[in-house]
Amino acid sequence: MAEKTEKRVAVVTGASRGIGAEIAKSLAAQGRHVVLVARNLEKLDAVKAEIEADGGSAESRTCDIADGAAVAAMIDGVFDDHGRLDILVNNAGITRDNLSMRMSDEEFDDVINTNLRSAFVACRAAARPMMRGKWGRIINISSVAGLVGNPGQVNYAASKAGLVGMTKSLAKELAGKNITANVVAPGFIETDMTDVLPDAIKEGVKTFTPLKRMGQAVEIASAVAYFASEGSSYTTGQVLAVDGGMTMC
Ligand code: NAI
Repeated sequence: MAEKTEKRVAVVTGASRGIGAEIAKSLAAQGRHVVLVARNLEKLDAVKAEIEADGGSAESRTCDIADGAAVAAMIDGVFDDHGRLDILVNNAGITRDNLSMRMSDEEFDDVINTNLRSAFVACRAAARPMMRGKWGRIINISSVAGLVGNPGQVNYAASKAGLVGMTKSLAKELAGKNITANVVAPGFIETDMTDVLPDAIKEGVKTFTPLKRMGQAVEIASAVAYFASEGSSYTTGQVLAVDGGMTMC
């Protein structure tokens, strides 16, 4: 194991673009060393360069988070290299939308595996280093679809609701070790994931969202930054919907 890194070390999955990239930047701005995780090294390095240009500290690690063994090895590698792992943000996620009557087993399994199982494997692997450090912050990125459902997304909504139940259970298991676990549930946020939605849906979102607009990735990042902060120490098992007031639940 390498010498212990002085800064708190944060792992952010899906950090190559969108919400994950903004989360990584906000944690770096908090003074964390951020481990950027996704499959594409070039894109990760572009985010890393942005963080470093702003005076932050980051590194890139490629990992297909759909591969559980690779996720566990990635987390173990971070601990081996830094001697610590303090913050874990499970942000990487995919959609494979289809009406339930037409949805294949593969479409269901792919989404559960990438969005939920990978987060479980990462949390399980990260819990031990956090226990050793006697401090930890787990933040799982769910979705309003996991809170209120969404037609065409039974797989995605199930994975995101699963993250809520899993996080609350982890919060109870790990509280005695000074490790918190919380959920951020974004509403409709302008990223590549939502760029593909038809204009009619985007306009519809604006109509039924009290704040009358889609959200920005940076607005999710600031919620994550709170849960990752030293000052959030008495907050665990919570679900914060950052959705322009859409759900209010
Ligand atoms: P995005 O599609 O722009 O980015 C997803 C990130 O996850 C990318 O970095 C991608 O490379 C990574 N990723 C996906 N599959 C991976 C795999 N197998 N291995 C490694 N990395 C993988 O998505 P966006 O919009 O930034 O979403 C981030 C998270 O927020 C996701 O979990 C998504 O479900 C959630 N979310 C997004 C909302 C939105 O409106 N954009 C709304 C609610 C939740």
